[in-house]
Amino acid sequence: MKVLVATEKPFAKAAVDGIREIVEKAGHTLVLLEKYTDVNDFHKAVADADALIVRSDKVTKEVIDNAKNLKIVVRAGAGYDNLDLAACTARNIVAMNTPGQNSNAVAELAIGMMIYMARNTFKPGTGAELKGKKIGLHAYGNVGRLVALLAKGFGMEVYAYDPFISAENIKKDGVIPVDSEEKLYETCHYISLHIPANDKTKKSIGYRFLSKLPKGGCLINTARKEVINEEELVKVMEERADIKYCSDVAPDNAAEMAEKFQARYFATPKKMGAETAEANINAGLASANQIVKFFANGDKTFQVNK
Ligand code: 3PG
Repeated sequence: MKVLVATEKPFAKAAVDGIREIVEKAGHTLVLLEKYTDVNDFHKAVADADALIVRSDKVTKEVIDNAKNLKIVVRAGAGYDNLDLAACTARNIVAMNTPGQNSNAVAELAIGMMIYMARNTFKPGTGAELKGKKIGLHAYGNVGRLVALLAKGFGMEVYAYDPFISAENIKKDGVIPVDSEEKLYETCHYISLHIPANDKTKKSIGYRFLSKLPKGGCLINTARKEVINEEELVKVMEERADIKYCSDVAPDNAAEMAEKFQARYFATPKKMGAETAEANINAGLASANQIVKFFANGDKTFQVNK
């Protein structure tokens, strides 16, 4: 079988070496398409691939239409909003992610961003400490749990809202469950977003929640820019000179944000939450192993288009 790794943002070399070893040991062939700038190169490369590994690369209907032999696509990472699941399902292609594999890298970045914002984006002047502050985890999945663990190490009081996880399970981790988003936002100095981007969540974080933040409130977004209602975020930050926003990947209104809010705003130019060698290796190798198992015995663990 031909396994294509198509990554506009490539994996670290050690991850590629590991993927190659797993794929070739199982008797398959690895083909690499890295740092492509023209999506047509992706369309061409996928034409005879039986399996596909991507990162945030958009697996559109057009990609699927070009991939006549494709049987499985694995998003090496957590969020699979870049996969056209309907197009995969229509062709009987199994779509998977690799949950948890890059979570620690994202959780560490969320903490780093909190410190950066608490210290006024490292500009001269008096900042604040995380110790004793309240952090609200908006969704308590793999990343949220790790942020909770790290935040407790900083002496923060940790709250979480997640309608899919029982209050008992949240409490077991020494985290305080809250039963509404409003409650989370009105209680916590820091909100760390860990919700996926889907039809329900896109543009869902706006005035209704952000205007409730306590004085000095700071929103940390290592999830997806699409979940923010950017116009409403600007409105809140214009009305309240104490609110801060930090995002892993620039919002669509990045120029306006930078000009209006300066040290109250920061965004990474390219998504970097999972940009560690460890996360690349974990997610990359997991993808290769999932593909090998799928071809060996039809294993569909981690399928997301069921
Ligand atoms: C994810 O959903 O796993 C992260 O956003 C990582 O995305 P990346 O592989 O594009 O860095």
